[in-house]
Amino acid sequence: MTSVPSAAPTLDTLRSALRATTLADLFAADPGRFDALSWSWDGWLVDVSKERVTPQVVAALCAEAEASGLSGWIAALFAGEKVNQSEGRPALHMALRQQDDTPLLVDGDDVIPAVRAAQARIAALADALRAGRRTGATGRAIRDVVHIGIGGSDLGPRLVCDALGALPPPGEHPPSVRFVSNVDPEHLARALAGLDPATTLFVVVSKTFTTQETLANAAAARDWLAAALPAGTAVGAHFVGVSSNVAAAQAFGIAAADVLPMWDWVGGRYSLWSAVGLPIAIRLGPARFAELLAGAASVDHHFRTAPFERNLPVLLGLVGWWNTRYLGHPERVVVPYAHALGLLPAFLQQLVLESNGKRVRRAGEALERPSCAALWGMTGTDGQHAFFQWLHQGLREAPVEFIVPLAAAHPHGRQQTLLIANALAQAQALFAGRSPDSVRAELAGRGLGAAALDAAVAARVCPGNRASTTILLPELDARRLGQLLALYEHRTFVEAVLAGINCFDQFGVELGKTLAGPIIAALADGAPLPDSADASTRGLIARVRAAPGSR
Ligand code: F6P
Repeated sequence: MTSVPSAAPTLDTLRSALRATTLADLFAADPGRFDALSWSWDGWLVDVSKERVTPQVVAALCAEAEASGLSGWIAALFAGEKVNQSEGRPALHMALRQQDDTPLLVDGDDVIPAVRAAQARIAALADALRAGRRTGATGRAIRDVVHIGIGGSDLGPRLVCDALGALPPPGEHPPSVRFVSNVDPEHLARALAGLDPATTLFVVVSKTFTTQETLANAAAARDWLAAALPAGTAVGAHFVGVSSNVAAAQAFGIAAADVLPMWDWVGGRYSLWSAVGLPIAIRLGPARFAELLAGAASVDHHFRTAPFERNLPVLLGLVGWWNTRYLGHPERVVVPYAHALGLLPAFLQQLVLESNGKRVRRAGEALERPSCAALWGMTGTDGQHAFFQWLHQGLREAPVEFIVPLAAAHPHGRQQTLLIANALAQAQALFAGRSPDSVRAELAGRGLGAAALDAAVAARVCPGNRASTTILLPELDARRLGQLLALYEHRTFVEAVLAGINCFDQFGVELGKTLAGPIIAALADGAPLPDSADASTRGLIARVRAAPGSR
């Protein structure tokens, strides 16, 4: 597993040549550009012809990937090697969606039997809940599920339930599923509004079972149950846990038989495929959860076996790497043209930024350039009426990824056509812009004086020449969503390998958690802060303690 990428003069040279040209020049110079720079696989189409790349750039990027040892890293990832070197762990989320029982060894033990056993438990519990067979402490059937978790223990299942579970198929009446992540009590209060404690089940999801926000919300939920159920009721029947720390879950009051497993070899932000996805199985049913896993597994196979030149996660990762490392874009924007994917930008922020927001290479050498771009976004067409102005006329270019499912889940007249047309029009507008001549022609005859005309033209011109990728998929069902998420997981890994970093640890997040401890004690009890605490933090704490109702 060699990891430090070599200098790539070829790509630097190509970058310099491209600086002197525009996207329009590139299309004019190559009538076959769309065909050369759009790739198909299993009904997907990824079009990067509006990115500032050429077929030569893509070939050189594939060569750089080879030189960076990407093939070896992919093999190591799938073989269960300890690719998370800083924590001495594999990153085997693919085991959770493997479709056959080929053994996968971690420290000499095959993990697949444990995965199958967990899947059977997930399906049994989900079926029992969906059929009204799981009862609470008073004997009444559970009707509502509240998932408590944060970060990777929240965003994945919340995204999938929101994307595919908002409207159950006719005739299905699964339990409702609500999510609570924020330690802000407002979040729990909203989730509990209107629920009957006797028919509510909490799923407490925490790999470590030490996460402050999750434990605080779980304790508040326990209090809520205890206050409402008959005195002396054992509220444990209203809890299920998902954790690798079974002892802590039991100490909280969850029966060992109700704790579903997580494993060290699954990172939090890659865990929706595990029992963390229990609410998916509850809301969508075990069969659709299995379809989600199967979709992801199909991308695993593609990523593992397709040559780089036809490998969608590799190609997407390489173009992302090119935009960050060679073209120096500090941002990328993701715009799903699917209301159902409203949570995708937030999910990708955790996946990409917690994975690749790093400052050193694997062996500890400092990076000279950012390892990844900041990521933000919103669904189209809403985003068009929010930040697209910045994209079209702001001074900085941020490459955009348009994600467009073609078939509507709920056909209403021509609305899906309008949606897709807007996606394509925005990509075209970013690319083509609007020239001064065309604006001037439109404004001619309005009787404006020369200065006013110049100002009016200047305000309306869009420079264009702004890059985007368009990703088309046939529809958004469980299989396709599984493919989409796995595609982004693997592309994130590709960018990490090219940057030479470990994408599976997140030590930066730990610092804030550590510092919060003394501040909580200072706010709640007036405990003294460590001498190292700065004057600003001390001043803020004093102000908070003085505020009415702050404790
Ligand atoms: O955000 C940091 C993090 O450690 C994530 O990686 C993880 O998904 C999340 O916190 C929650 O952790 P846990 O599942 O242990 O509660």
